[in-house]
Amino acid sequence: MRNKALIAVCMLTVMITACGSSEEPPQVVEQIVVRERGTPEVVDVAASDAVSRVSLGEDAFQACTGCHSVDADGRSAAGPNLYGVIGRKAGSLEGYSFSDAVSSSDITWDEASLDGFLADPATYLPGNEMLAGAVPDDEARAAIIAYLAAQGE
Ligand code: HEC
Repeated sequence: MRNKALIAVCMLTVMITACGSSEEPPQVVEQIVVRERGTPEVVDVAASDAVSRVSLGEDAFQACTGCHSVDADGRSAAGPNLYGVIGRKAGSLEGYSFSDAVSSSDITWDEASLDGFLADPATYLPGNEMLAGAVPDDEARAAIIAYLAAQGE
C-alpha cells in the first residue's frame, strides 16, 4: 500500500515536474538560454528580400543609365530624370521635351504602368521616343521598379 501510494505520488510528480529531475531540467535551461540571447538570428525576411531586390534593380538599371539619371538634382539626359518617377504624371517633368505619345497619355506612373511600359515600350505607348531600354525579363523589371521606388522616398 505504501509503495503504491509512493508510485502514485511519483507519477503525479512526473506529470508536473518530470519526476526526479526537477533539479536539472535540461530542456528548460536550453529554452531560457535561447531567450536570453535575444534575437540576433531572427531576420526580417520580407525586409531583407526588399533590400536585395532594390540592389538587384540598381544593377539592372545600368541598362538605363545611358539615357536616364535618378539623381535628386533633377537633371535629364537623353531621357528624362527618373528620380521620384513613381507617382509622377507621365511626360510632366519640367525642362524635358517629351513626345506627344507620353505627354498626352493619362498615365501616372505606378508599379503596374511601369511594368507594362518597360516590358514593351513601343506597344504600351505607341509613338513614344524611348527607342531602347525594354526589359522583357519579369524579375529584372520588378527589381528595376523596386529600385526606382526607392529613389525619391
Ligand atoms: C536610348 C535611351 C534610353 C534608354 C536606354 C532608356 N530610356 Fe527611358 N526614356 C528615353 C526617352 C527618350 C524617353 C522619353 C520618351 C518620350 O518622350 O516619348 C524615356 C522615357 C522613360 C520613362 C517615362 C518618364 C516620364 O517622366 O514620363 C520611363 C519611366 C523610362 N523611360 C524608364 C526607363 C528605364 C527604367 C530604362 C532602363 C530599363 C530606360 N528607360 C531606358 C530614353 C531611354
